[in-house]
Amino acid sequence: MLVDVRINGYKNPIGYQLEDLRVSWVVEDARGSVQKNATIEVSEDEDFKTLLFEKTDCSFSQTGGLIDIPLKPRTRYYVRVTITTNQDDQGVGVAFFETSKMDEPFESKWIASLEKDTFHPEFQKSFHISREIKSARLYLSGLGMYYALLNGKQVGNEVLTPYYSDYHTEVQYQTFDITLQLKQDNTLTVMLGNGWYKGKFGLARQENNFGNRFMLIAEMHILYCDGSEEVIASDDSWLYHSSCVESSSIYDGEVINYLQNHQEKEWTKPEYISPEGRLVARYSLPVVEKDELSVKDVIITPKNETVLDFGQNFAGYVSFNTYLPKGTKIILDFGEIMQDGCFYNANYRDAKSQFVYISDGRQECVKPHFTYFGFRYVRVTGWLGSVNKDDFKGHAIYSDMPTTGHITTGHEKINRLFLNALWGQKSNFIDFPTDCPQRDERLGWTGDAQVFTGTACFNMYTAPFYHKFMHDLRVEQEKYDGIVPGVIPVLDPNGPIFSSIWGDIATFLPTELYEHYGDQTTLRQAYPMMKDWVDKITKEDQKRGQQYLYNFGNQLGDWLALDGRTEQSMNGGTDEYYIGSNYYAMSVQKVANAALLLGYSDDASYYLDLYDHICQAILHEYFTPSGRLSIDTQTGYLVALYSGIYPNREKIIEGIKTRFYKDCYKLKGGFVGAPIMCKVLAENGLSDLAFYFLLNEDYPGWLHCVDLGATTIWERWNSVLDDGHLSGTMMNSLNHYAYGSVIEFLYRDVAGFKPLAPGCQKVEIAPLINQKIKHMHMTYDSPYGQWDISWQIKDNGKLHVSITIPFNASATLILPCHPKGEIGTLTSGTHVFEYMPVEDFRARYTKKTLFNDMMKDPEAMKIIERMSPLLQYFLTTGNEDFYYESLDTLMGMSYLGFKQEEVIALGHELVKLHD
Ligand code: BGC
Repeated sequence: MLVDVRINGYKNPIGYQLEDLRVSWVVEDARGSVQKNATIEVSEDEDFKTLLFEKTDCSFSQTGGLIDIPLKPRTRYYVRVTITTNQDDQGVGVAFFETSKMDEPFESKWIASLEKDTFHPEFQKSFHISREIKSARLYLSGLGMYYALLNGKQVGNEVLTPYYSDYHTEVQYQTFDITLQLKQDNTLTVMLGNGWYKGKFGLARQENNFGNRFMLIAEMHILYCDGSEEVIASDDSWLYHSSCVESSSIYDGEVINYLQNHQEKEWTKPEYISPEGRLVARYSLPVVEKDELSVKDVIITPKNETVLDFGQNFAGYVSFNTYLPKGTKIILDFGEIMQDGCFYNANYRDAKSQFVYISDGRQECVKPHFTYFGFRYVRVTGWLGSVNKDDFKGHAIYSDMPTTGHITTGHEKINRLFLNALWGQKSNFIDFPTDCPQRDERLGWTGDAQVFTGTACFNMYTAPFYHKFMHDLRVEQEKYDGIVPGVIPVLDPNGPIFSSIWGDIATFLPTELYEHYGDQTTLRQAYPMMKDWVDKITKEDQKRGQQYLYNFGNQLGDWLALDGRTEQSMNGGTDEYYIGSNYYAMSVQKVANAALLLGYSDDASYYLDLYDHICQAILHEYFTPSGRLSIDTQTGYLVALYSGIYPNREKIIEGIKTRFYKDCYKLKGGFVGAPIMCKVLAENGLSDLAFYFLLNEDYPGWLHCVDLGATTIWERWNSVLDDGHLSGTMMNSLNHYAYGSVIEFLYRDVAGFKPLAPGCQKVEIAPLINQKIKHMHMTYDSPYGQWDISWQIKDNGKLHVSITIPFNASATLILPCHPKGEIGTLTSGTHVFEYMPVEDFRARYTKKTLFNDMMKDPEAMKIIERMSPLLQYFLTTGNEDFYYESLDTLMGMSYLGFKQEEVIALGHELVKLHD
């Protein structure tokens, strides 16, 4: 039996911030279905001879058993978990964690290159070791970014260290185990680049956001076998000179000139300077090269450019092995799309996104140190001879999170859409969630992150990644009196963006994390942030006489929706104060729920009362006395259904149906409406509409982008026009994950996986079957282990459903269209069902199908021609109105000559069409 143990969500962490120590575990292949009890033991020795902690408890949760022991700095602890099942099977898992320097002061000092030396420095320290080493650690940080080599080899495998922080407040250091890398004679080299700290970064593309000096701090602790310890610390015995990196920036790229290495360079003594922020142990997960991509095609363009096509938009960089003659200069430019067959990246705006390499004639593997790019295409200039596909490799970098969700279906374009959203996540989860990875932005936009959270937590194990992000959010929030800014860090002298949806990440993210990972400690840690966000809105509301509405300020609203003043407008057509007030209500409700869970009963009653007031205010302000929503937009109705704030649900459902009809079933939603659209429709009995919008291939829609060749999710529905041209360059990224949040609908509704208890220990499974999707297979690695759901429409019309539930979990199953409407509770194990559903899922069309869907189907058109020449006439004479009618609506059109019996007969024929 395997027990996979993690500490605070990390696998064998070394040198992390470990607030509220807790251990979680996953059990596989156990005899028995539930955990009877668990024993947690902690020791400093690997064989657990002396125990520092030992507890057996039947209430130990797999999602976070708390360990309460005093910790010492720089110490390794071993944790053993032994579980007993209800069949008395036992399983054991062991992990370790190693503390950082904790409160122990650094013996080393920050050292900096002199102010006049504006070049990228490389610091060095050589040292000799004469005794046998037991273990050695390097505690290291550098600003803006560092890249360290010990005896010519990179220390660790992380990139972009020490990662992003609000450096005014803090700077992270990392801990590396260098035991095996040390020799007798050693040289530690630390190269420094600009990074987020001092390079061009932010909405105004400004430099020196946090400081203007290169500096580093390093401390090596070498433990010898004889028990003695030596510390090698950064001080003014270290020397520096210019490195081979001539320039670097997140936006602009990097220039490496290896000829520099052959010049006589003067070694200089550093000076002592400290950064503004305090040094803290790491919060960030490692960012590493996670996926390797090969070149799919080498294109010679009409302009005679050589362009590599990786076939996939992603974030990272390329590497190449070369022994080009001394002085050869290679220039790589990065782009997401070709235009008119040629290289293009004007949509990167002010980001140069260029990598330059000048060879010194040595054979080497070349890649950048202090930057990354978002790209599919690379223009290669200066290469000698012709470029071969295998001369270059692509490296996708992102925070080291395991992928936990997989979906495949019988619909190839949906499979592609799933991958597009996953690549969106990979490309934008580089230490903190960004809007996009390519243009002069790549910022921590909180609204984008908020709408994608639900999908992100299914796709990958995000708990430690978001733990760091919540820390960053809180740091900013504390500076701005409760506001959770629209973008962090706030680098704008005008102050933070204060807007709903974006700021609501404060409550939505912790709630989502609790649902997925079931760790109450995370919720408790996040609680002050949740509370301060809604309190800030309340305070501002009170200032002008409390209305219980968030109807003030500049809010971003349904960003990029298509019902704004023009289709290129940033602001959508839905009243942003209506949206803001609904999200205010939902946020307050989430705070109230968290307070209840955490046992803060006074808070709970205060927030529940506040929630009631807000609901009343919304009903009063935005609904007619008879209960109709006065905000007649798609997003307006979707938000009402999502928040549940309305006097009468039927009226909202009628409202949205009419709105869709009037909009010719063209999706209008932006960042608010689109992400929730399909799941909200499905969860309110409108799954036919949810599937229509998901599967629609006309503009605008998810599969329309797939049809146009998207390999990631676009920022705008019309980012690329049907003729292949970009719709504009002002704000047009092809790798923005926000609309990728539709994937949550696939997990929650199409596979039907709806968590009922924290950590997905109890789940409702109610799949939605769709003829065009044919079959679906979903797996999700939850904190309790892997869930596996699959369904298939068989040729004989039967439905095959298979469900695997992990150890110690259970499910309530609602089988779709089961003759007995069967609902049952299932426990751990695999359960298979096959039955004839009461609805024939093989039918291509139903009475609700729009004729638009049938018009590309010659078989359907033949039936229409035969049975209703009148309908055929309307459909083929360019009367677009009729594309968006269905058999159902045709029934009421007797005034146009449609006879009821004829429409019924037509329906009978059409539903006979099976695949
Ligand atoms: C970003 C968005 C962001 C928005 C809000 C844009 O420039 O790319 O994704 O949420 O601004 O103003």
